Amino acid sequence: MDKIIQGIENKDETIKYVKALGKRHVKYGVIKHHYWVVGRAVLTTLEAGLAESFTKPIKQHWVKFLQLLTNLMIDDHYEELIHIDKSIILHEDHKFQII
Ligand code: HEM
Repeated sequence: MDKIIQGIENKDETIKYVKALGKRHVKYGVIKHHYWVVGRAVLTTLEAGLAESFTKPIKQHWVKFLQLLTNLMIDDHYEELIHIDKSIILHEDHKFQII
């Protein structure tokens, strides 16, 4: 996460790093559905911890950030794995949609 935040200045390097991180996650046994679980857990934790400070605009930014991170990490790493070859959209209400 530190690397990603520091990397906002260096976009290309950051994208490369996040994609490679996602590729390593395939080896860790992570499937696409797990990103849904972790994304929801992150949002729920932020909501519980920050309470009313976790305003709608802040939540919308987190949803966008998690969606971006998830898309970059999944990239095309799962294309050959038919049973998990689905795209996931994370909605503001914490629900991911599998398309
Ligand atoms: C949301 C985006 C995620 C980020 C930014 C993230 C980040 C990281 C990082 C930085 C590592 C350290 C190892 C490395 O650099 O390769 C790691 C390891 C790991 N992550 Fe994630 N991760 C994410 C999602 C997930 C998900 C969805 C799962 C599955 C539930 C998961 C499971 C693991 C496992 C099993 C390891 C290896 C732990 C170990 O062997 O020590 N991660 N993750």
